[in-house]
Amino acid sequence: MRVIVQPNSEGVSLCAAKVVANLVRDKPTCVLGLATGTSPLGLYQELIRMHHDEGLDFSRVRTFNLDEYVGLGPNDEQSYRYFMQKNLFDHINIDVRNTHVPDGRALNLSTYGEQYEKLINDAGGIDLQILGIGSDGHIAFNEPGSSLGSRTRLKTLASETVRDNARFFGSEDRVPRLSITMGVGSILESRRCLLVAMGPSKARAIRDTIEGPVTAQVTASALQLHRDVLCVVDEEAARLLERRDYYREVERAQTLLQEGRLSELGVSPQPNDQ
Ligand code: F6R
Repeated sequence: MRVIVQPNSEGVSLCAAKVVANLVRDKPTCVLGLATGTSPLGLYQELIRMHHDEGLDFSRVRTFNLDEYVGLGPNDEQSYRYFMQKNLFDHINIDVRNTHVPDGRALNLSTYGEQYEKLINDAGGIDLQILGIGSDGHIAFNEPGSSLGSRTRLKTLASETVRDNARFFGSEDRVPRLSITMGVGSILESRRCLLVAMGPSKARAIRDTIEGPVTAQVTASALQLHRDVLCVVDEEAARLLERRDYYREVERAQTLLQEGRLSELGVSPQPNDQ
């Protein structure tokens, strides 16, 4: 796992948006996996800015969202489809037919997950999956105890998540208890994952994800098994990481390598390199 610690949440959003934008420029037909919630909001705002100011082109990009509340339709202001329209899709030149959010009102809930995954496979799989993390360490709605091999399916929200998300609904009893969510196993099939986290409430989950054991009790820890994960976190979310200094060293070395400043890494050119 590559870990980048930014001074604040704005730094996280700008850094993560650069990663997404680079992919969109390199592969204009890329498939993005998207998340909702507070964590990716700044990232989406920066992508919108890049679209307007720099002509970042989403016309051939396809997207798949991680999850949706069961029972909420696209016009419901709390639905994740509505969130995506308002916070990203309505402001960029994406073709809405290329955007996918699980259908919270699907009636065939037992087979719906398989259908959703088939759509992802038919699109060639997800190139880059954007992820937030719950304070209980969940990714998508894979609550503690979810199988690390789980697929897209119906999932009951944990009480901690109901509490966390009550801020969007006004009160806890208005939060739907069920979701359709991509599984941990489905997420691990993405070619690359980009996890963003900010604020003190994420510090424990981030520590457990990056430095704890791989366990179904912290489903984000399964990302340790993935070959290409980038975690961009702010100082507050990184507060409990024991190896922070090492992550900074890695990033410094990476920058020096990119800039060809090899001598600062203790590498001196050999005669046969001339
Ligand atoms: C949302 C999702 C969730 C959130 C997580 C963090 O699509 O998949 O896992 O990423 O609950 O939410 P925020 O960012 O609101 O703290």
